Formats: sequence, structure tokens, C-alpha cells
Amino acid sequence: MNTFLQYNPTRLLFGENQIEQLPEELGRKGLNVLVVYGGGSIKRNGVYEDVMRELKKAEANVFELSGVEPNPRLSTVQRGVELCKKEQIDYLLAVGGGSVIDCTKAIAVGAKYEGDPWDLITQKAPIEDALPIGTVLTLAATGSEMNAVSVITNWETKDKLGWGSPLVYPAFSILDPTYTYSVPENQTVYGIVDSMSHALEHYFHRTENTPMIDGFIESLLRTAIATGPKLMENLQSYQHRETMMYISTTAFNGTLMNGTDGGDWATHRIEHAISAIYDIPHGGGLAILFPNWLEHVLEEDPSRVKQLAVNVFSIEDAGKTDLEVAKEGAKALRDFWNSIGAPSRLANYDINDQEFDAIIEKTFIKPGVGTYKEMNPESVRDILNRSL
Ligand code: NZQ
Ligand code: ZN
Repeated sequence: MNTFLQYNPTRLLFGENQIEQLPEELGRKGLNVLVVYGGGSIKRNGVYEDVMRELKKAEANVFELSGVEPNPRLSTVQRGVELCKKEQIDYLLAVGGGSVIDCTKAIAVGAKYEGDPWDLITQKAPIEDALPIGTVLTLAATGSEMNAVSVITNWETKDKLGWGSPLVYPAFSILDPTYTYSVPENQTVYGIVDSMSHALEHYFHRTENTPMIDGFIESLLRTAIATGPKLMENLQSYQHRETMMYISTTAFNGTLMNGTDGGDWATHRIEHAISAIYDIPHGGGLAILFPNWLEHVLEEDPSRVKQLAVNVFSIEDAGKTDLEVAKEGAKALRDFWNSIGAPSRLANYDINDQEFDAIIEKTFIKPGVGTYKEMNPESVRDILNRSL
């Protein structure tokens, strides 16, 4: 193992009715609170009412920023920053999925900066301060509710960039599985795929002697595989919603990189480049790319994919070569995601090879893509070709 520091300051309030803790979590009464949310799902499923009821108890002065789009845009961040400055906002409350939370994180740092928030996201200027953030999660997928990461799209330049700062860990996150009952079938699938992809990215590291973390990741993946299909059968199952919610938060809150080099993440970089150009759902893109990334890497070294095949997909390895077992593992992942209704080809989103050069260029917008296998433009092209 590598030396590591385990640090995560987010207070997680998990379970039904935990929204009642909101006034106490805000710390004091009478704050100026900006509630950030998306296209209206929280108004249809009752979450908005719950949040407003609790904010009233906290005697908060409530301001609202609605319309945060999936794959949140810089222009919306800028709107939020302006509001914060104008209304002297004390606290940001994100109510939604990863897009709303990521947008809120960018508003939090932008509100404490004089220039364009894009400077902070592109690291042209250092992040030195942020407004405090709380979240009420409504979609189990990204892990943004308990990490210091955010992904913002600049639609003018068509760049989708991940960035992070310890200053944007949410101070608290409220996770009530009943708030995810209304997540539609396709978004539920994307959430399962994204959570599993985070576990897989962590799994493909190059650090020696990591049996505890490897076993933890394998267990998380096996649980997702056991739970996913049952959840798809019954989207209103408390049990399955709570299991998936805990999986998604754990899959990207730092736990899975304890003692390792942090994992690969090339697939995420390629997916963000595709989303920047085509604005497709993140989980959908990952479902297409990840099995092809596995196939790309196993041809050079099948050992790790074989371990995944045996320990996660229970593939029998007796009498087979490592390569054969690894190939079965990559296929098992694709078959599983297909079985719950995930896309498997770029053609599912009407994407052909026309923009591959641009996708490759955007994948390398920051140097260093992939740690388990370092990518070069040709290896990214190979994965894209396999995904057509
Ligand atoms: O906008 P509303 O009306 O709320 O609808 C949303 C949106 O259309 C809907 N939804 C959310 N909760 C719902 C619901 N519909 C019904 N009932 C509910 N309870 O779902 C749609 C998608 O929401 P979105 O927030 O975009 O999904 P997700 O949580 O998957 O977030 C995706 C974004 O997060 C980034 C992705 O790249 C993408 O931009 N990521 C963020 C990460 C992070 N911060 O750590 C890591 C990830 O790898 C990822 O890159
Ligand atoms: Zn992801």
C-alpha cells in the first residue's frame, strides 16, 4: 500500500425523513440560503415542499436558482454567482442529482472570486475561499454529495472539465432513499452504471498489496450486480433504493482509494470529452466505453481483468487461459449492463466517427490520461472504434 491520509468532512445524514435535520445542520437561524435545483423534478415529487418547510423552521431567507441542466453549464454557474453576490448569500443548498451539486460547488467558489469562475475551473486562478454547501440528494449516481469534485461544461468552447478543491466538500448531505423513488428507469440505469464505473476506475490501480480495498471494491460491485436488476423490477423499493444510494456515495467518496495510486480514470476522461461535444448522459457514455476499455487493456495484460472476472462475475477459470477468462469478464460486464437496459454502442446516441479527432483532443485537454494504462491518442481511438 501507499501512505495515505483519510479525510472526508461531509456529515452524511442517511435514511427516511432525515430532511428534518436540515435546520440543525444549517447551524443558525436567519441565514440567506440559495436553493439550487434542476428542471423541476423536485417540484413534482414533493422534495421541494419538504425542503421549504424545513427552511421555514430555520427562519431562512430563501432565494432560488432553478434550471440547472444535466451536464451543468458555466452560464448557469455565472447566474448563480451573480445572485450570491447581489443577495449576500450565506449558504448554498443543492437539491438534486450530481449536476445540481456540481453546479453548486462551482457557484460556491465563484461567489468568493472577483473574476470569471471558469478561471478557477481551469486552474488559471487559485481557489482560496468558498461559501458553505449542503446537499439534499435526489439521484444515486455520482458521489458528488460526499466528494470534493465537480464537472462543469463550457458550452461556448465545448469543454467539459472536472475540477476539485477541499473547500467544496459539502458540509452535510441528506440522503433519503424515498427521494429517489421518482427517478425514471433510464436515469436509474445510468446511476447504477456510473456508481459501478467509479468502483471499476478505482479497481484498476498499480499499487501492490491492497487486498482489503480490492475486496471492498469487489464486494461493492457484487452488491450492485445483485441489487440492480431487482431495483429495475421495482423502482419504488425502499430496500433496493437505499442499497444503491449507499453504493453510489461510497463508490466515490475517497474510501476506495485508500492506500492506492487512486485508480485509472481514463474512461471518465474519454466520456467527458464525448459529453462535451454531444451532451449525452454521463452513465450512458460510460456503459458504452468501459467494456471496450477492458477489452483494450486485457490484450496487453489480462491479469487484473481476470481477477475482476473471477471475483466479481464468478467466472470459472479452470482449464482456461488468463486471456480467455479476462475476455469473459469484459463480456459479462457488457451483458450485465445490457440486461438492465444500458446503451452499448455510440450509435445508440447517433454518434459516428466524424468527431473522433475532436474527442481525442479533448480527452487530452489535461495531460496524463490513465494510470493503470497510460493512454495515447491511438489507444483512445482504438477504444472509440470498438464503441461505434
Ligand atoms: O433537472 P431535474 O428536473 O431535477 O431532473 C433530473 C435530470 O433531468 C433528473 N432527476 C434527478 N433526481 C430526480 C430526477 N428525476 C426524477 N426524480 C428524481 N428524484 O435526472 C436527470 C439527470 O440528473 P443529473 O443530476 O444530471 O444526473 P447525475 O446525478 O447522473 O449527474 C450527472 C453529472 O455529474 C457529473 C457528470 O459528468 C454529469 O455532468 N459527474 C460528477 C461527478 C462528481 N462530482 O463527483 C463524478 C461523475 O463521474 C460525473 O462525471
Ligand atoms: Zn462518473
